[in-house]
Amino acid sequence: MQSSTISYLTILALTSQVLFLPSHANLCTNIDDFNNYNASHTYSMPALRINGTKRDDEGFNIVEDPDSSWYIASRLKVSRVVDDGSMNNLWLNTGSSNTTNMGMCEESTSSYELGEYKFSKEVLERSVNDNGDCKTMLGEECVEALRVHYTESAIYAMRKGQCPSGSDWNITVPQQCRGLVGGGEHWLGGMSAIDKGISLNATLQQQLYNESNCDTSLNASMHSAGGLGGSYNQSIRFPQPTFLTFWPNRTDMSRYLSSWDDDVYVKIVCLRPDEVTEGSVVPPSGQELLDRPDAKFNKNTTQGPSNPSDGVVENVCGKKF
Ligand SMILES: *[C@@H]1O[C@H](CO)[C@@H](O)[C@H](O)[C@H]1NC(C)=O
Ligand SMILES: *[C@@H]1O[C@H](CO)[C@@H](O)[C@H](O)[C@H]1NC(C)=O
Ligand SMILES: *[C@@H]1O[C@H](CO)[C@@H](O)[C@H](O)[C@H]1NC(C)=O
Ligand SMILES: *[C@@H]1O[C@H](CO)[C@@H](O)[C@H](O)[C@H]1NC(C)=O
Ligand SMILES: *[C@@H]1O[C@H](CO)[C@@H](O)[C@H](O)[C@H]1NC(C)=O
Ligand SMILES: *[C@@H]1O[C@H](CO)[C@@H](O)[C@H](O)[C@H]1NC(C)=O
Ligand SMILES: *[C@@H]1O[C@H](CO)[C@@H](O)[C@H](O)[C@H]1NC(C)=O
Ligand SMILES: *[C@@H]1O[C@H](CO)[C@@H](O)[C@H](O)[C@H]1NC(C)=O
Ligand SMILES: *[C@@H]1O[C@H](CO)[C@@H](O)[C@H](O)[C@H]1NC(C)=O
Ligand SMILES: *[C@@H]1O[C@H](CO)[C@@H](O)[C@H](O)[C@H]1NC(C)=O
Repeated sequence: MQSSTISYLTILALTSQVLFLPSHANLCTNIDDFNNYNASHTYSMPALRINGTKRDDEGFNIVEDPDSSWYIASRLKVSRVVDDGSMNNLWLNTGSSNTTNMGMCEESTSSYELGEYKFSKEVLERSVNDNGDCKTMLGEECVEALRVHYTESAIYAMRKGQCPSGSDWNITVPQQCRGLVGGGEHWLGGMSAIDKGISLNATLQQQLYNESNCDTSLNASMHSAGGLGGSYNQSIRFPQPTFLTFWPNRTDMSRYLSSWDDDVYVKIVCLRPDEVTEGSVVPPSGQELLDRPDAKFNKNTTQGPSNPSDGVVENVCGKKF
C-alpha cells in the first residue's frame, strides 16, 4: 500500500508540474491524455464562483452559480507507466466561470491495487450501481461524514493558500466509514493526493496552453487534475472514491469573522469510467471479476471493528461486518 501510494504521488506531482512548469513535450502529452482514451465517464456538478471581489474581504467566498454546470471527466487510458496497465485521469471543465483566485485540492483512494480488492465483495457489488455520488457504494452516513471531514480540509487549505502537503493531509477515515475498512483508521486502498494542489486560475491555464504548440488544443476552461494508476479491468468496473475541495484564495485570514464552513465547497465523486470507447477491450463485468476464483480481497475488509461496542457496527453504511 505504502509504495504504490508513493508512486501515485509521484505521478501526480509530475502531472501538476506540467501545469506549472510546462515543457512543450509534457504539455502535449497531457493534452493527448484528454483527447485519446480507452474509457470514460463524465459527471456534472454545480458551477461555482467567488462571491465578492476583494481577496482580503470576508465576503470573498465560494457560492454555487445556479445558471450553469461544471463537468468532471474521468478518462482512462492504457499506460505503461504503471505495471498493471492504466491511468484514470481526472479533468475539470469550469466552462465560462471566473475561477480566478479559486483553489482546488484532490484526494483519491483505490478500490483495487496490487492484485487485491480494497473493499469487501458486498460493497463492490453495490458499487457498480453507484451514480457517482458515492452514496450507494459508501453509504449516506459515511458520505455525510466525509463532507464534514473535507470541509475541514478545505478550510485548512483556505487558511494556508494551498492544499496540505506531506503529513499535513489528514488521511484518517471518519468514524462513520470505519465499517468499510474493517474498523481501521485508513482507507485500505491508500490515499493519494496532488501535493500542494491545483490552482484553478483560468488565466494561468490559458496562458500555458497558448504557450504550448501541440497538434491539438484544449479548451482553456479544462483543468488537468492528475491521474490514478491501476489495473485496466478493475479501474473501468469499480469506482475510485475522489474528494475535491474548492476554496477562495484569500490574502488576509485575520479579519475573518463569519462561518468558514459556508465559504468552501466539497464535491465527493465516485469515478467509474465505464463507457468503453469503440475498438477498446471491453473488460468482464464487475460481477464476473468479483466471482473469479482467484479474486483476492484485502483481509481487513472482512474483519469486524476492533471494538464492537464503539458504535461502528450501527454506522457501517448499510453493511454489517
Ligand atoms: C474574476 O474574479 C476576480 C475575483 O476573484 C475579480 O477580481 C475579477 O475582476 C473577475 N473577472 C471578471 C472578468 O469578472
Ligand atoms: C455574497 O456576499 C454578500 C456580501 O458579502 C452577502 O451579503 C451575500 O449573502 C453573499 N451571497 C451568497 C450567496 O453567499
Ligand atoms: C470552453 O468551453 C466552455 C463550455 O464548455 C465555453 O463556455 C467556453 O467559452 C470555452 N472557452 C474557450 C476559450 O474556448
Ligand atoms: C482528522 O480526521 C478525522 C476524521 O474526520 C477527525 O476525527 C480528526 O479530528 C481529524 N484530525 C485533525 C487533526 O483535524
Ligand atoms: C494563493 O495565493 C498565493 C499568493 O497570495 C499564491 O502564492 C498561491 O499559489 C495561491 N494558491 C492557489 C492555489 O492559487
Ligand atoms: C491568478 O490570476 C490573476 C488574474 O489574472 C493574477 O493576477 C494572479 O497573479 C494569479 N494568481 C496565481 C497564483 O497565479
Ligand atoms: C490565448 O489565446 C487566445 C486566442 O489566440 C487569446 O485571445 C488570449 O488573449 C490568449 N491568452 C493569454 C493569456 O495569452
Ligand atoms: C482483463 O480481462 C481480460 C478479459 O477477460 C483478461 O484476458 C485479462 O487477463 C484481464 N487483465 C487483468 C490485468 O486482469
Ligand atoms: C486503447 O486505445 C488505443 C487507441 O487510443 C488503442 O490503440 C488500444 O488498443 C486500446 N487498448 C485497449 C486495451 O483496448
Ligand atoms: C489490518 O488489520 C490488522 C489487525 O487489526 C492491523 O494490524 C493492520 O494494520 C490492518 N491493515 C490495514 C491496511 O489497515
